[in-house]
Amino acid sequence: MDIISKLMEEHQLEKAEWIELLSKSEDPFVVKELREAAVKLRKRYYGDKVFTRGLIEFTNYCKNGCYYCGINRENRKVKRYRLTEEEILDCCENGYGLGFRTFVLQGGEDGYFTTDRITEIIREIKKRYPDCALTLSIGERSYESYLAWRKAGADRYLLRHEAASESLYQSLHPAEMKLSSRRKCLHDLKELGYQVGAGFMVGPPGQSLEDLAEDLLFLKELEPQMVGIGPFIPHHETRFSEEKAGSIELTLFLLSIVRILLPKVLLPATTALGTMDPEGREKGLRAGANVVMPNLSPVKNRKLYDLYDNKICTGEEAAECCGCLSRRVESAGYRLVAERGDAL
Ligand code: 5AD
Ligand code: FES
Repeated sequence: MDIISKLMEEHQLEKAEWIELLSKSEDPFVVKELREAAVKLRKRYYGDKVFTRGLIEFTNYCKNGCYYCGINRENRKVKRYRLTEEEILDCCENGYGLGFRTFVLQGGEDGYFTTDRITEIIREIKKRYPDCALTLSIGERSYESYLAWRKAGADRYLLRHEAASESLYQSLHPAEMKLSSRRKCLHDLKELGYQVGAGFMVGPPGQSLEDLAEDLLFLKELEPQMVGIGPFIPHHETRFSEEKAGSIELTLFLLSIVRILLPKVLLPATTALGTMDPEGREKGLRAGANVVMPNLSPVKNRKLYDLYDNKICTGEEAAECCGCLSRRVESAGYRLVAERGDAL
């Protein structure tokens, strides 16, 4: 049986088969076949719905030194900010009025936000908006913190694994960051009953097809409810400033593959995809994605959450994000919905 039929029937492949399939990301027939299979699955489970998550980037302080990331601790040029609890609640209020029923609190690994401070914020948001899902995306923390936040009402947690290959993980991160810790966090989060999101970048320096094959094997083993995939985009103040960006086509190909690998997964058309190509998010939706994550952060802070160069939705037009996105979703042939959108 050829590998494409095997993937479609068994929803997984062996490492060597992944590598062979990934080497065909520029073969238009293969791309089309996988895209069509992905769209069919996504329609079977989710119809024409596209779920929205309101993203609140509440701190750009970070104790980590990830080599690719524009807000890593070495970057002295970025102006650091933290939103107050009141500002975070204002973002929620504004988002709720716009129809959002999921809020994502995302930030750098910022020690100011202790377990108790985050717990307090979760309680307040869940008290005011009991009908909303609350997602955290604040990096590697202890089992005890994850437990406390789960008890306080957090429903979901996004923590990209970044690279399932030991050697690639290490070449993208300083020595004290360990793939094993990342894996432990993801397993802890699952055990605590969070709906978990993992994911990786496409095309960071040194990534091979073998590395991507390992990411796919890892995803099948972890079975996360959500998978975030976007192209690597160099940031001018990082050591990767002169490196090439990841390919849009390979990113779209991987979105289709992940839809087939985990048919019910929630798959965002990421901001990085929209940054690399003005139609990137529409293309993502047409390749199998079914989630968009508009920015609800205060406009004055958006430029400062500067993960990579030329990030979209950070200018004065950013207040228009939602209207803009719903037009984009419709132009891709889908429909933006307000519901919480839990994983099936
Ligand atoms: N290009 C693309 N994505 C990036 N991220 C961080 N830096 C970059 C970059 N330069 C992604 C990481 C992280 C997520 C919040 O953003 O995968 O998990
Ligand atoms: Fe932000 Fe279009 S989605 S301006």
